[in-house]
Parts: sequence; C-alpha cells; structure tokens
Amino acid sequence: MDFKIIHIAETDSTNRWLKDYPPPLPAGEDVVVVAEFQTAGKGCGSNSWESERGKNLTFSMLIHPEGLPANEQFHITEVVSVALCETLEPIINKKVAIKWPNDIYVGDRKICGILIENRLQGSAIKDSIIGIGLNVNQRVFLSDAPNPVSLYQLMGQETDLDALLQHFLEVFERIALRPTVNNDYRARLYRKGIPALYEDGSGRFKATLTDVQNDGRLVLHDETGEKRTYAFKEVQFIV
Ligand code: BTN
Repeated sequence: MDFKIIHIAETDSTNRWLKDYPPPLPAGEDVVVVAEFQTAGKGCGSNSWESERGKNLTFSMLIHPEGLPANEQFHITEVVSVALCETLEPIINKKVAIKWPNDIYVGDRKICGILIENRLQGSAIKDSIIGIGLNVNQRVFLSDAPNPVSLYQLMGQETDLDALLQHFLEVFERIALRPTVNNDYRARLYRKGIPALYEDGSGRFKATLTDVQNDGRLVLHDETGEKRTYAFKEVQFIV
C-alpha cells in the first residue's frame, strides 16, 4: 500500500470527506485524510466523536482490500484493531486490548475508536473507509463519552502526531499481511475468559466472553453455560 496522505485543517468528518467528496483519485489509490479538527466527527451508531482541535489523530483511510469477499469483511476490523494495539503498546508500555468489536482500551478506558464503512460490489468489497480517532495529546475530555483516556494522560508527555501516524501506517501494512491476525485479535479481547456483566434486549446478565466468530459475532456463555451470540449493538458491556 502506498498511501497518499492529505492533511486538511477542518472538515465535518474525515469518513464523510472520503466518501462523498473525493477529489479525482486515480482508481485504486490508497488515501489517508487527516483533519486537525472535525466539526461533526462520527462515532459508531448515532454517537459523535469528541476531539479537541489539533490535539489528537482523527483520520480516515481509503483502502482496496483486493479479493476479500464481503462475507469476510470482519477481517478488516481484525487488522485495524491489532495494528492499533501493536502501535500503542510499546509507546505506553501497558497492555492494550480490543473491546469487541473495535474499541481500543487501556485498562477500562477507551483510547481509540474505529468506524469502518465498507462499500460492496456484488459479493466483493469495492473499498473500505477506515476512520480512526486516537486520543493523543488531549488533557481533558468534556463530552459525556463514558471513559476516555489519551496518551498524554497515560504518559504525562506530548506525542508528535505526524510521527505517530507514520508509525501506525507502517504497522498496519505489516499486520495486513500477517496470516495469524485472526488469532492475534482474539488473544487481545477485553474481558476474554472473565465473568462480567452484559445487557441485551432482555436485561442484564452475567456471562463470560469466550470467542468472536469469523463473521464478527460475539460469543458469550451465560451462567447456565448456554452459548449466546450477538451482532454489534445487540449487546452492551457493562463497564
Ligand atoms: C467510535 O464511536 O468509537 C468510533 C469513533 C471513530 C472516530 C473517527 S475520527 C476520524 C473518523 N472520522 C469520523 O467522523 N469518525 C472517525
């Protein structure tokens, strides 16, 4: 992947920027757009994404995962999540985990959010827009996001944003070629094997996260030993 990196001062959302108003890109070019500030950064579902101007990494990548069938699109989530963990872990020297499906956590706090929007062509993936909001130098979070944390809060010093982005892109390219990335994703799952509280449409229950299926569904075993599987948004972690 030879990324063309575009820096912009402000946009509503870098995912939207890549999706709706792309400049005339040569077909198949992989692009990264980085914004100093988003006026309407999108989180998952109807959530917004808080990021102070110039303090964090808010960027989106447009990639063309050649030959990846639409029914294997969860592989993109695995690659991006593992790449972020392996980028951050040596910097902060603490374990970095993946809260299913793709929140990046240090302890019980979220350092990074990912918003992947795949565009399909028949049964193949035409391209994928991968939006990443990584909390880097922000000292205080004002929104009602429940448990944010930044690299600055963890380390007490600022990090150069461009160098961090370059480093992430190198790690990403490496992990994209790694045949064991599905195992690496599962090995990093937040709360794996630990009984904890969850909530689905029927209420709260205690269960143990045991696996994630290849289609991305979460696998929990409840206290009666019954297996329950969930798609994204069908179950909540009670943190
Ligand atoms: C989440 O809710 O955890 C996903 C957050 C994703 C935020 C990033 S910031 C860059 C890109 N542009 C957006 O509008 N959202 C993503």
